[in-house]
Amino acid sequence: MKKIINASILNADFGQLKNQLDEASAAGIDWIHLDIMDGHFVPNISMGPSMAKTCRRISTLPMDAHLMISNPNQFIPAFADAGVNLISVHIEQDVHIHRTLQNIKDHNCRAGIVLNPGTPVSSIESVMDMVDLILVMSVDPGFGGQKFLHPALDKIRVLRNMINVQNRDIYLQVDGGIDIEILPSVIDAGADSFVIGSAIFKNQLGIHQAVIQLKKLIEA
Ligand code: DX5
Ligand code: ZN
Repeated sequence: MKKIINASILNADFGQLKNQLDEASAAGIDWIHLDIMDGHFVPNISMGPSMAKTCRRISTLPMDAHLMISNPNQFIPAFADAGVNLISVHIEQDVHIHRTLQNIKDHNCRAGIVLNPGTPVSSIESVMDMVDLILVMSVDPGFGGQKFLHPALDKIRVLRNMINVQNRDIYLQVDGGIDIEILPSVIDAGADSFVIGSAIFKNQLGIHQAVIQLKKLIEA
């Protein structure tokens, strides 16, 4: 699959969101990544369907919503109606994951499954045939600007092998602490979708240069 940058707006300046997304989009980000947090599944509260609607209004880029919330199934219609293209849910949060993934697809969105750093790859084996994306968390979810957890690299390698062996059209996405230093290792491990927040929106180089620099590595 084409390697893509999913820019997480979690650490963007919401007061300058349109300008910042326009700048990041002109520099070449591929998707907008919405980190949805309810203060229950993760120890932070971030944004909801109304932010998804706002991003849909101010940008034409596709959007993936990463639901770090309890009872994600309840919110699938709201994010689908807001214009989100792909919805990812945590395997840890849903005893009825098959129903939730089916609900996402019934709402004409692509479906993603998310693994926390402490969750084994084996936990998602039985839903590989239902998902368009597997998200490997490389930080404990809840905040942007954290340090990349290196054990995620082994998980990425294992999943890359599983996806290739099963010949599946699944994006292998990594989220958390990705910057110019760790990006080459994440690419080498086999990821093809890179959720990047602070290294774009809080970069000393500015948004445009930051994206150009990251894209150069991804397209090398
Ligand atoms: C954590 C979030 C973050 C965010 C990326 O729950 O999912 O990983 O999107 O943030 P940075 O790139 O700043 O680590
Ligand atoms: Zn995320």
